[in-house]
Amino acid sequence: MHLPDLKEARKRTSKEVEHIYLEQKYDKNSFKGKKYFIKTYGCQMNVHDSEEIAFRLESLGFTATETLEDADLILLNTCAIRENAHDKLFGFLGRCKHAKDQDKNKIIAICGCMAQEEGVVNEIKSKYKYVDIVFGTHNIHELQDLILKRNNKQEIDVYSCEGNVYENVEYKRDSNIKAWVNIQYGCDKFCTYCIVPYTRGKQRSRSSKEIIKEVECLVKNGYKEVTLLGQNVNAYGKDLEDELSFAELLQSVADTGVERVRFVTSHPWDFTDEMIDVIAKNDNIMNYIHLPLQSGSDRILKLMGRRYTKKEYLELYKKIKEKIKEVAITTDIIVGFPNETDEDFNDTLDVVNTCKYDSAFTFIYSPREGTPAAKMEDSIDLKTKEERLYKLNDLINKYSLENNKKYEGKVVKVLIEGVSEKDNSKAFGYTETMKLVNVSGGIPSIGKIVDVKITEAKSFSLDGEII
Ligand code: 5AD
Ligand code: SF4
Repeated sequence: MHLPDLKEARKRTSKEVEHIYLEQKYDKNSFKGKKYFIKTYGCQMNVHDSEEIAFRLESLGFTATETLEDADLILLNTCAIRENAHDKLFGFLGRCKHAKDQDKNKIIAICGCMAQEEGVVNEIKSKYKYVDIVFGTHNIHELQDLILKRNNKQEIDVYSCEGNVYENVEYKRDSNIKAWVNIQYGCDKFCTYCIVPYTRGKQRSRSSKEIIKEVECLVKNGYKEVTLLGQNVNAYGKDLEDELSFAELLQSVADTGVERVRFVTSHPWDFTDEMIDVIAKNDNIMNYIHLPLQSGSDRILKLMGRRYTKKEYLELYKKIKEKIKEVAITTDIIVGFPNETDEDFNDTLDVVNTCKYDSAFTFIYSPREGTPAAKMEDSIDLKTKEERLYKLNDLINKYSLENNKKYEGKVVKVLIEGVSEKDNSKAFGYTETMKLVNVSGGIPSIGKIVDVKITEAKSFSLDGEII
């Protein structure tokens, strides 16, 4: 048994990160005829981890099911970023218990960021004895062995460490059109509200050679869009000697000829002019940038440890808008950070009024145990925080619609992803600026990029006709 340890998770040493090339073989007959069900919470990193987990389960012979009750193995891939994730997990565990009561042989496994939290694992250990396996973000590659060696005891194997980089990882990808590609793991920014540096370890980059090899292979297999994934993609390569910068990596990925490339997430702090130039000059790098603001108040930004001021953020925003044509910019904003005043909040609204974002993810601050912000006293009540969130959301939605309206009458390139669930005479896909478009006028080939004339703009999507 290995339990998570917050003190260890916080540590950063100069120890070199190991790049480990996996060579794993398993017997597909081990669980032939058995089914698995995966529930994924949280960010794209988790979604992509679940693609690795699915591959690993299938390497043992499991096949997927969409019905929890039919599954012989239920796996919950959890998120720790906000408190509501905790409630969701324990709520869902109730359903798993019910399923296990019907069939004692079901295996229940928990992984992801919450599995890296001391408090959560202690709770599972003492109160949720029917959970069979708990593993963390650092040992997904051990999943098959954990399943094969399990006995009747609860197995908890979570490591709080800086982490390694694993290569030759295989995935059962959810899509055959769009693919996630990890370029970097972990985070060293330690924003004071954020749990990620503790749950996912030190910031560590994959080698650019391996990344390019993976993208080339995806292109060969017909993938149209690649999203480079990391907590801070623009800090890519800084932890390796003689490695490409993020701007150089982006150029090399664009040079593979993949039809579309994008990346998430970038931190305003490391966003270089070279990056902006590379995005501006390559047609296959999507003109879409997610640029988390978090707050518009210098006082709060400092307390959050964000390393930029409102003025610096706005300067970067202006540069991006000027150099990258028709770029769409989205953001993340937290309201109700401890002791956020009306004046601080108004600074946030002021930035929103200047940047007029295409869309934004907005959150009420949620204290995360072990982070510095969780120790700050907070005089602001929940009602005030909620009112701020509603006000902010109204403003964000107003600008989303305004931005979308600019598309009306225009012809845009849409990567067709599938048939609309609501209306199967329509297809849906995304523009180069990541706008969802519902397309009428016949179903084009799935996976093709087609010209679509936008007929009507809504706050969260566009309607268009194929031309
Ligand atoms: N409370 C609220 N929102 C948070 N985020 C990260 N940590 C917290 C927290 N403790 C938000 C940030 C981040 C996004 C992924 O989640 O806005 O960019
Ligand atoms: Fe969290 Fe800040 Fe790292 Fe983003 S940059 S993962 S918000 S610590």
